Amino acid sequence: MRVLVTGGAGFIGSALVRFLVGTVGAEVLNVDKLTYAGNLASLKPVESALNYKFLRADICDRAAMNEAFETFRPNYVIHLAAESHVDRSITGAGEFIQTNIVGTFTMLEAARQYWDRLPAAQKAAFRMLHVSTDEVYGSLGSEGLFTETTPYDPSSPYSASKAGSDHLATAWQRTYGLPVIISNCSNNYGPYHFPEKLIPLVILNALEGKRLPVYGTGANVRDWLFVEDHARALLLIAQKGRPGEKYNIGGWNERQNIEVVTRICTIMDELHPDGAPHAKLIEYVADRPGHDARYAIDATKLRTELGWQAQENFESGIYKTVAWYLENAGWWQPLRNGVYSGERLGVLKKV
Ligand SMILES: NC(=O)c1ccc[n+]([C@@H]2O[C@H](COP(=O)([O-])OP(=O)(O)OC[C@H]3O[C@@H](n4cnc5c(N)ncnc54)[C@H](O)[C@@H]3O)[C@@H](O)[C@H]2O)c1
Repeated sequence: MRVLVTGGAGFIGSALVRFLVGTVGAEVLNVDKLTYAGNLASLKPVESALNYKFLRADICDRAAMNEAFETFRPNYVIHLAAESHVDRSITGAGEFIQTNIVGTFTMLEAARQYWDRLPAAQKAAFRMLHVSTDEVYGSLGSEGLFTETTPYDPSSPYSASKAGSDHLATAWQRTYGLPVIISNCSNNYGPYHFPEKLIPLVILNALEGKRLPVYGTGANVRDWLFVEDHARALLLIAQKGRPGEKYNIGGWNERQNIEVVTRICTIMDELHPDGAPHAKLIEYVADRPGHDARYAIDATKLRTELGWQAQENFESGIYKTVAWYLENAGWWQPLRNGVYSGERLGVLKKV
């Protein structure tokens, strides 16, 4: 198995690369530009493995992508490289359009050129998995779940750019026959998560006795999935999924944001009693513009068609995650001191 992974120095990409290289034993080429979100320290466990290669390149660079395909000769592509933070997309959408839309277009074209020239058997076996988000479906009310046929209705520049890239992936499958599959996943959490996102931000702020910002009333609902369960699902979909199909990935773990923050505080009280009760640090702040009320995934198709099931529930996964951050200051401290120290992002400014 030869897997070209894009965005493998990011949160989900690095979990996938550690799984593919360390557990599965696949040959992996990780193509990553190393933006602020890319971190080679997340790949330390596999960096010297003989079945792992790294290429620092931009997915918008067609010549570099052509060369990556020609020299590595993958039978699977799992495409995760993206700008991924909604708050950053509100104040600077340009990079999101470039990487998420133009970059995905470039990957599809480079894949098509390579795939077109493969011998018949390899051509039939080749798969490209485009990794996307449930945010493309927009917001739910208090009832119902997103299925694979829910119409797209994105709210943020981030989700709109991901929706655009999903449409390109579908078009390349229908028009050119490129065997592309799309996955739409709910919110991920777990080790090696960049500290701008809710869960690591709350853990680290609680540890440092800083305020724990909760947007609006904290009633927004997200459906949480442990990142290593996502990595296992991605390989399964790449191997067994049907080209032209979409698969929703979710953990059946809906929680209000305030419940997530409160649960982290309780675990912190147990594992790091200094500063308890940590819940006293909770502070409600102005809501995110365009904040979707609720996301919830129906992952029945993935379970019934491909036999996937999450191994972690929210309780087990969040406990492991808090414990990991407490034990791995060496990973997050440089990020907190340098790239991102916890300031509010995504506040509207005049253009
Ligand atoms: N985080 C979630 O909860 C979640 C949920 C569902 C889907 N997704 C999707 O999964 C994918 C990965 O998400 P993540 O949270 O790991 O993101 P991340 O921001 O942690 O990582 C993104 C990676 O892509 C790289 N990258 C960015 N622009 C690039 C470019 N132009 N060329 C090459 N590399 C580039 C970055 O350096 C980084 O390593 C994204 O496509 C995202 O939309 C994320």
